[in-house]
Amino acid sequence: MSLTLAIIKPDAVAAGYSGKIISHLEAEGFKVCAMRMARLNRTQARAFYEVHEGRPFFDDLVEFMTSGPVIPTVLEADDAVRRLRDTIGATDPDEADEGTIRKLYAESKGRNAIHASDSDANAGIEINFFFSSYERLHL
Ligand code: CMP
Repeated sequence: MSLTLAIIKPDAVAAGYSGKIISHLEAEGFKVCAMRMARLNRTQARAFYEVHEGRPFFDDLVEFMTSGPVIPTVLEADDAVRRLRDTIGATDPDEADEGTIRKLYAESKGRNAIHASDSDANAGIEINFFFSSYERLHL
């Protein structure tokens, strides 16, 4: 079993898709280990996405991720990082496979409903970003 981080993004929270997305994740076999609602400020959003700093979409990404509440969620499964990325689909919903979360619920490449960690190393970093006491709570 391994862990990954999903974030239900402001577009999906505002549209009322949070419950459907969590149900979808559970139906795919993920165990919800931790979950909270958070409102990121600009400093936090810039830090979370610092790997994208300098990319043309970075300012829009920060603006969007601070536009409303998000729901960071720690998920457990076998091969959790890869399986979550398969479950959410391509970054651009127009390119996402049928039945994926982004195909079902995302509006566009920028407003794409959900984030998923892209490696085990980043999953650890991203889980700690939102759940600083996670390791201690789950010893
Ligand atoms: P996410 O998985 O959260 O990781 C980085 C985000 O940047 C990505 O989802 C997209 O929402 C966003 N992103 C990536 N490429 C573009 C792009 N070309 N235009 C707008 N947003 C993008």
